[in-house]
Amino acid sequence: MDYARIIDQAVAKFRRSAAMAEQEGIIPYKCENGRWITSPWDGNSWWTGGFWPGLMWLLHTLSGDDFFKAEARRTEKLLVDELSSFVDLHHDVGFMYLLSTGADWKITGDEQSKIHTQHAASIMMGRFNPAGFIRAWNGADKAGYAIIDCMMNLSLLFWASRATGDPRFAHAARIHADTTMREFIRPNGSSSHIVEFDPFTGARVAEHPGQGYCLGSQWSRGQAWGLYGFTLAYLNTYEERYLHTACRIADNFIAHIRPDGLTDCDFCQPADELRLDNIAGMIAACGLLELARPAGNSAYEAAARRLVDGVIEHCCDWTDASCGILTHCTASYHDDGAGRHTNITYGDYFLVEALAKLTGKDPMLWL
Ligand code: GLY
Repeated sequence: MDYARIIDQAVAKFRRSAAMAEQEGIIPYKCENGRWITSPWDGNSWWTGGFWPGLMWLLHTLSGDDFFKAEARRTEKLLVDELSSFVDLHHDVGFMYLLSTGADWKITGDEQSKIHTQHAASIMMGRFNPAGFIRAWNGADKAGYAIIDCMMNLSLLFWASRATGDPRFAHAARIHADTTMREFIRPNGSSSHIVEFDPFTGARVAEHPGQGYCLGSQWSRGQAWGLYGFTLAYLNTYEERYLHTACRIADNFIAHIRPDGLTDCDFCQPADELRLDNIAGMIAACGLLELARPAGNSAYEAAARRLVDGVIEHCCDWTDASCGILTHCTASYHDDGAGRHTNITYGDYFLVEALAKLTGKDPMLWL
């Protein structure tokens, strides 16, 4: 597969469609009827807000075009405004600010962006419950909720310890990762989505079904968050137990890749159900590409290529009928209203990150 040519196509397409986002003044969430729409939930505090500026930074790195840098900074500013209103923020400040303010600091050295990223890390640190986990969501009944997705956000805490020289952030991240390893990861290498703990004692109270098919099933995006998240935990700490866990999750994920290289929304969904989530495949591809070298396992890179080649062959829209590229993205198994078999910006983010890795040009915004 000629990944460099696919990158050129992506750069050309987003040059056109990012201009539309800029005219609208929004952070795109997904494409609907040939137009970007912003998140219908919680405005710019919605967890996905960082993927658009992150995508713009990737495209800037890949093309050298300052148009993408300007678009990244336009939307970075909207996210920085959210730091002051604060009430709707959550553990996904990792996704939001590593890929926006953190990326700006990493790529340009902008000091103010570094300060904003430290602010976001402090918000995440404030969600750490010393009973052993990072609280995921807001709401009076969710004080004990932790979710597998949080493994990706831990990188913000590890980053903050490196940036400040203060180990507290990394201590909290390690404690959460160890709890996740113990309480989420099943003997077959699959992961639960939501585990509820007693917020006073840290005892496990219940598992909840979340965005997958049913309780005890394997929501594929959750598996991918775990795969890439534990890989990042290893790259942040060089602790062997995280590498081992990432490999167990990877082996289970690879066993469920469809013959066409696409990814089912849940690995336990009924066999006659066609419900794909290619975002999961692209997150997993990125994780596998990072994992292959430390694991010493070239099968991980081969699996990542199968996933990327699968979507390039079957699920990329290069026409202007869609503002984005990756098709057949599904937000949640039982909530078609949130997006089913559609284009969602974080799918494109991970597709372009995977392409950047495959061509040796990834700025690695997570570390
Ligand atoms: N982190 C939420 C999701 O993957 O839908």
